[in-house]
Amino acid sequence: MKIVVLNGSPKGEPSVTMQYVKFIQKHYPDHEYLFHNISSRINRIEKNDDLFNEIMADIESCDSIIWSTPVYTLFVPAQYMRFIELIHERNVAPSFKDKAAIVMTTSIHFYDHTAHRYMHAVCDDLEMNYIGYFSAEMDDLRKSRGRETLLKFAKNYFESSEKKIHHQKRYQPITPGNGAFDPAIVAKKMNAHKKKIVLVTDHKPHDTGIQAMIKRFSDAYTETIDIINLWDLNIQGGCTGCIKCGYDNSCMYKDDFSAFYRSSILPADIIIYAMALTGRNISSKFKEYFDRRFFMNHVPELKDKQVGYLISGQMSQMPYLYDFCQGSVEWQQANFAGIVCDEAGDSKEIDASIQKLAEQVITFSENAYCQPQTFLGVGGAKIFRDDIWGKLRHVFQADYRNYKKTGAFNFPHKRYKSRLTNSVVMLLTKIPGFRKEFYSRIKTEMYKPHKNIVESCDVRSSS
Ligand SMILES: Cc1cc2nc3c(=O)[nH]c(=O)nc-3n(C[C@H](O)[C@H](O)[C@H](O)COP(=O)(O)O)c2cc1C
Repeated sequence: MKIVVLNGSPKGEPSVTMQYVKFIQKHYPDHEYLFHNISSRINRIEKNDDLFNEIMADIESCDSIIWSTPVYTLFVPAQYMRFIELIHERNVAPSFKDKAAIVMTTSIHFYDHTAHRYMHAVCDDLEMNYIGYFSAEMDDLRKSRGRETLLKFAKNYFESSEKKIHHQKRYQPITPGNGAFDPAIVAKKMNAHKKKIVLVTDHKPHDTGIQAMIKRFSDAYTETIDIINLWDLNIQGGCTGCIKCGYDNSCMYKDDFSAFYRSSILPADIIIYAMALTGRNISSKFKEYFDRRFFMNHVPELKDKQVGYLISGQMSQMPYLYDFCQGSVEWQQANFAGIVCDEAGDSKEIDASIQKLAEQVITFSENAYCQPQTFLGVGGAKIFRDDIWGKLRHVFQADYRNYKKTGAFNFPHKRYKSRLTNSVVMLLTKIPGFRKEFYSRIKTEMYKPHKNIVESCDVRSSS
């Protein structure tokens, strides 16, 4: 087979993910492998037609494609997403049709599922024969079990592609929306109560849908809100994965981004992301914002802020986007204030939803309301906690200092009362009589403390 490997790591050659591909290559040397560094050369690929055409010629003539990429900020790097946009902008999607495809990532398993679902949708849009994904923890290759699993995956990949086994599509082509949003004139504007509201957007002149939503949102207030279009900032490129920020949160780029983030985003009470969806996801421009935010590493710098989304596009056909929007907010310990999307095309409903979001973010902010996190936030934060305490501590020293200071290393083994209870009860339940009594009372004992709170609470006080 002739296989084209599209390397999504912004690091280029020294990519961890690529070592997984090269490990496969070493075990299956009879195939022809052609490697293209995509993310690290995205500017050249975009500007230089010869280079773009050279890559496309290899794709056109190959049997199979390996999408090899790190997970970056819940999806794949912005540069890789830009390449996917270029495929559609330049109408070269037919070159991918019917090619066998696999997607290989490395990560720390923080939202690797969203990255894979997105890439699956990309393959389906390109009418590829999507065989499957391999989502490795970045160090799996260093373990014998990790290598064994990788080779089993490779075996299945080669067998499936050689036998041309057809795989069912999961994502149907995107169907167009129901028409333009026509915002109403706001009769009575409201006071933002001195809350600092920042709206970040990526719209271009032709993105009229999101512009109408932004106007309706800002019209809700008597005050002028800060609207920042990412295209107006001097951002020199996507995150390169150099991790120099790990020591003290300083980015190697000398452009506007870090200063903008520190001076506009960090002091805000309320952040609204206003996005014009592009292809199967947020635009690569907006993704660049989220990737570049990585100079703050794994610190929840948006803690206690209100974060909401205005989205123009067919979001319901991108199910992974809900996890992205909610998860990005929840792991930050910010309040997920909601999403308003214009895809239903019912102007009255969109209007009312934007008004509600505009009101809600103020009330929530005034009341310091932060709803309990779901699995998306709780699970994500635990991955960071464990890795920053453990194997990533020497790399992300700024995170380590912050986590230590803020008590984020809240491991269960530090809860001495429950450890003592566990030891005593586990010992006692070895006695059959005690065990019988213990399990017969477990239901009532579990809810008793909660019931006591309900019964004894003073309804005149807030708690
Ligand atoms: C900007 C940036 C964002 C990242 N985002 C995620 C993420 O959302 N989830 C995750 O599990 N790992 C994330 N990582 C970790 C990388 O996925 C991981 O280090 C990967 O192995 C790098 O592969 P590469 O060497 O091929 O680029 C991120 C790393 C960087 C630099």
